[in-house]
Amino acid sequence: MSGNRNVSIYLIWRVGEKIMEIEIKDLSKAYRPEKPVLSGINLEFRPPSIVGLIGPNGAGKTTFMKILVRQILASTGSIKIDGTDISKSENDLKNHLGYLPQEFGLYEELTVYQFLDYMALLKGLGLEKEKRIKNCIEKTGLSEKKNSRIRTLSGGQKQRVGIAQALLNDPELLIVDEPTVGLDPAERVRFRNLLAENANHRLVLLSTHIIEDVESICNRLIVLYRGEILFDGNPVELIKKAAGHVGVLDSDCEAGPDIETDCIVTSRLITETGAQYRIVGDKLPSGIKPVIPSLEDAYMYLITQSG
Ligand SMILES: Nc1ncnc2c1ncn2[C@@H]1O[C@H](COP(=O)(O)OP(=O)(O)O)[C@@H](O)[C@H]1O
Ligand SMILES: [Mg+2]
Repeated sequence: MSGNRNVSIYLIWRVGEKIMEIEIKDLSKAYRPEKPVLSGINLEFRPPSIVGLIGPNGAGKTTFMKILVRQILASTGSIKIDGTDISKSENDLKNHLGYLPQEFGLYEELTVYQFLDYMALLKGLGLEKEKRIKNCIEKTGLSEKKNSRIRTLSGGQKQRVGIAQALLNDPELLIVDEPTVGLDPAERVRFRNLLAENANHRLVLLSTHIIEDVESICNRLIVLYRGEILFDGNPVELIKKAAGHVGVLDSDCEAGPDIETDCIVTSRLITETGAQYRIVGDKLPSGIKPVIPSLEDAYMYLITQSG
């Protein structure tokens, strides 16, 4: 009997769940009038999805995310959530948002549990607080560290605490800004998997300047460069754009290839006989063997094409 009651409560909750469709139109931001850092941003998001926002440092990723979470205001344009302007649904947004900022100050002297308890209080979690904290600690693999002071944790563990606090309110919209900066390669892999495991029904927006971060977990990529969107689509579409524009050159010379065209060398692999150079450009020099582009090649090609 009690089992049935649980099922019906669950269904009501699912029906009442937010959809979180986001529609962004003609968004721009200029901290100083003469220097726009975002311009002409038009995007739509719909859960469930893991979206990678990728671009070099200074591209405008953090600015974009701060606008989405209402930390700063856009200069022009509109953002609608489920059809309502974001300025009119700020409280609603807060209830359904989890955010891990790029610069995330943790209270180093608190234990993991104490910190999450404090964050849960700020988020206004009521009766379900303890259950949610326990659930987030488990989900982020921090059970053994729950009574450790934050200052004693590794970089990867601290970022997991960051995700745990972002998941406290079981948000429909999860925004994480450059979460893998400063993590070692193994920690980065673990963090990416953690994010994918906790994506569920959510819309996850992950910003990074590292292609590897988005390669394995994102089904949609947005490339932001100098405040503009250069690409919005799935990884395969991005790779297709670079077909015929990536090649390799085997060279036994230490100095590397002498390329006179406007191609760029994106990597050098040491081989038994010397080195193999990976080259990206609009028109590959003669003698260069075209190869199937990687996502990293395609991203580099896109960036070089925009000057
Ligand atoms: N508060 C600010 N005041 C003035 N300029 C800023 C401010 N924050 C960021 N910028 C500038 O805006 C541009 C985009 O920055 P940011 O959004 O942090 O890019 P990203 O996160 O992609 O590295 C950069 O040129 C940066 O110097
Ligand atoms: Mg940033």
